Amino acid sequence: MARPLVDTFGRTHDNLRISVTDRCNIRCFYCMPEDGVRFLPKPEILTFEEIARFAEAAIPLGIRKLRITGGEPLVRRDLDRLIAKLAPLPGVEDLALTTNGVLLADQAESLYAAGLRRLNVHLDTLDRERFRSITRRDDLPRVLSGIDAAQRAGFRSIKINAVAVKDLVEPDIVPLVRYGLERGIEIRFIEFMPLDAQGLWQRGRVLFASEIVELLEREFGPLEEIPDADPRAPATEYRFLNGAGRVGFISSVSRPFCLNCNRIRLTSDGKLRYCLFAIEETDVKGLLRSGASGSQIQEVIRANVHAKWRGHEINNTAQFVAPPRPMYSIGG
Ligand code: GTP
Ligand code: 5AD
Ligand code: SF4
Repeated sequence: MARPLVDTFGRTHDNLRISVTDRCNIRCFYCMPEDGVRFLPKPEILTFEEIARFAEAAIPLGIRKLRITGGEPLVRRDLDRLIAKLAPLPGVEDLALTTNGVLLADQAESLYAAGLRRLNVHLDTLDRERFRSITRRDDLPRVLSGIDAAQRAGFRSIKINAVAVKDLVEPDIVPLVRYGLERGIEIRFIEFMPLDAQGLWQRGRVLFASEIVELLEREFGPLEEIPDADPRAPATEYRFLNGAGRVGFISSVSRPFCLNCNRIRLTSDGKLRYCLFAIEETDVKGLLRSGASGSQIQEVIRANVHAKWRGHEINNTAQFVAPPRPMYSIGG
C-alpha cells in the first residue's frame, strides 16, 4: 500500500465523505434559504463512474470509510447504482449514508440490496407543525415511515441527527430521545454551526451539549460519558445510568474535535475539501474528465491533505471566516 494520508499535524485520514448532489427536497433554515437557491447544472456534477474512479484512487492511500451525503442524496436518481459500485471495493470497511429520510420509504430496500448497511437520518422534531416550520415542508409523516422502512429492511445501524438550536428545539429533545430509545436508534444532537446559507448563525443560538445533558438528566436521571470507542468519530456518547440506552453529541462549537480529524470531502461538482470549513479547495473534476491516472489523482489528494489547517476557528470571532459554500453544497 502507498504511504498513508498524514497531514502536517500528524493526523491520518481514512474517511472520505462524498456529496452526490447539492439539491434537496426540503429547506431546513439552518442550511438553506427558503427559495431562490441556484443549484448546479447537471453537467457540473460528477457521474457515478467519476465518483467511483476517485474512490478507487483514494482507497490505496488508506481511505477505509465512505459516507454518501448531499444536499439530499436520495434525490439523485438511481443512487443504489453508486452504492453497488462502492460497497464491494476492496479496502472499504464502512459505507454509510446521511439522508433527510423523505424518500427513504421508497428506497430503503433497494439501498440495502445494493450493499448499504448504515444510515444516519436527519430529524429535529416529532411535531408536524414544528417540522414544517423548521424545514418549510410538511414531510414529517414521510420521514417517519422512511425510518420504519429502514428498520424493516434490516440496516445494521440507524442513527438520527438533530441540529441543536437554542430557544427552538428544547421541547423536541425529550420526545426525540424517547422515540430513539424505544426503537434502538441512537439520537445525536449536533451543535448549530455557522454554515447556514443566510448567515443566521450566532453563538447565542447554539444549544450546547452540556445544556442538553442537563435537560435530559432532569427527565431520565443521570447520564455518564462513555470513553471514546473511536476518538476520531465526531460524536461523544453518553449512557443513561438507568440502563435505557445512549445518546450522542456532536459538539463542534463547545468541544471542537479537529485535533482528531480524519476526514476529507468530495463535493458533487468535484472539489476536494480538507475541512468542512475550508476556504480553499482543489478541483478533481478536471483531472477525472481529462483521463488522469490513479497516481495523478493520488498526488492531488496528498497535496490537499498536506495543505490542511489545524482546524476551524468558530470560537475565535476575530479570525473566523465562513466558507463560501453553505452546508447543502458541502454535505456536512
Ligand atoms: P458516523 O460514522 O455514524 O459516526 O457518522 P458521522 O457522524 O461522521 O456522519 P454524519 O453525516 O451523521 O455527521 C453528522 C454531522 O456531524 C454532520 O452533518 C456535520 O454536521 C457534523 N460533522 C461530521 N463530520 C464533521 C467534521 O469533520 N467536523 C465538524 N465540525 N462537524 C462534522
Ligand atoms: N449546523 C450543524 N449541523 C447542520 N446540518 C445542516 N446544517 C447544519 C448546521 N448549520 C446537519 C444536518 C444534516 C447534516 C448534513 O448536517 O444534521 O443532516
Ligand atoms: Fe475536521 Fe474541519 Fe471538522 Fe475540524 S472542522 S473536525 S478540521 S472537518
